[in-house]
Amino acid sequence: MTGRTLDYLTSSGERAATIVPLTWFTLIVSIVVCWIIAVLLWGGLRRTRRHAAGVQSRDIAVRRGGDGLNWIKWGLAISAVPLLITLVWTMAALGHIAGPPRRPGMTIDVTPHQYWWEVTYNGPTAANTFSTANEIHIPTGTRVLVRLHGADVIHSFWVPQLSGKTDAIPGQTNLSWIAADRPGRYFGQCTEFCGLEHAKMAFEVVADTPGDFNAWRRAQLQTAPPPATAAAQRGLQFFEYRCALCHAVRGTTAASHYGPDLTHLMSRQLIASGALANTRGNLAGWVDGPQKIKPGALMPDQKLTGQQLNDVVAYLETLQ
Ligand code: CUA
Repeated sequence: MTGRTLDYLTSSGERAATIVPLTWFTLIVSIVVCWIIAVLLWGGLRRTRRHAAGVQSRDIAVRRGGDGLNWIKWGLAISAVPLLITLVWTMAALGHIAGPPRRPGMTIDVTPHQYWWEVTYNGPTAANTFSTANEIHIPTGTRVLVRLHGADVIHSFWVPQLSGKTDAIPGQTNLSWIAADRPGRYFGQCTEFCGLEHAKMAFEVVADTPGDFNAWRRAQLQTAPPPATAAAQRGLQFFEYRCALCHAVRGTTAASHYGPDLTHLMSRQLIASGALANTRGNLAGWVDGPQKIKPGALMPDQKLTGQQLNDVVAYLETLQ
């Protein structure tokens, strides 16, 4: 992975701000309970050892009405209080965040696949609609409705600093929503075991200021320009012949949506669904041998010659 962490103890948006205090409460209660149990257990063991010196356990008479029952009564009464608080608090938090916003500022479609995230921004016309992968841009201060579609098996959408978890189930559309208070990159992860590369099924939510977001959106709507160098031109030819079986680059004949849309591949910081930083070396390694990096992913090893690999990477690097 890339050193980014799933930070579920801080929040950066309205929705997570409802969840995180409850997480802290249950965490602290659990730690305190563990300590109390450990201390009682330690005390109990010491008592038994004192009793047991030279006495067989079957010689100890069972006492009825002793203080043992009081311990149980008090234990139940004391543990019922935090449990009740947790129950009421959870219900209140769920009531606040479970329903999708009635008037979302923006709606996006997210379709998890084995093992990557397809993100579609729908506009009023096809020319205003585009797809990207593994990097979700949102404007700050906006409630974004996320429609989750299941492509193959059950996955789960989770961006701890922005939202709770919602499953994506084949055959139905589940609704989630995210909102970010301030610009930043927020790490997300699939949290439903979905196959061999479940662990390497990450993504990033990038919260931009509304101005930056609109600039990003305008840039994403552009089609890819024709490459200028000879190597990149050969790379494009090879790409349209081989990679186009799965991938799309708008502005070329490659239009398959089986794998990620690569029209603006170089605008993303991570590749392979968060498994690698988007550097030239990683990109070449990934194109050539995805099965070495994510065994079981649906992209086969390409077994390219050195020249083919150079050309394809030279072309991919033009996809800004
Ligand atoms: Cu997708 Cu786990």
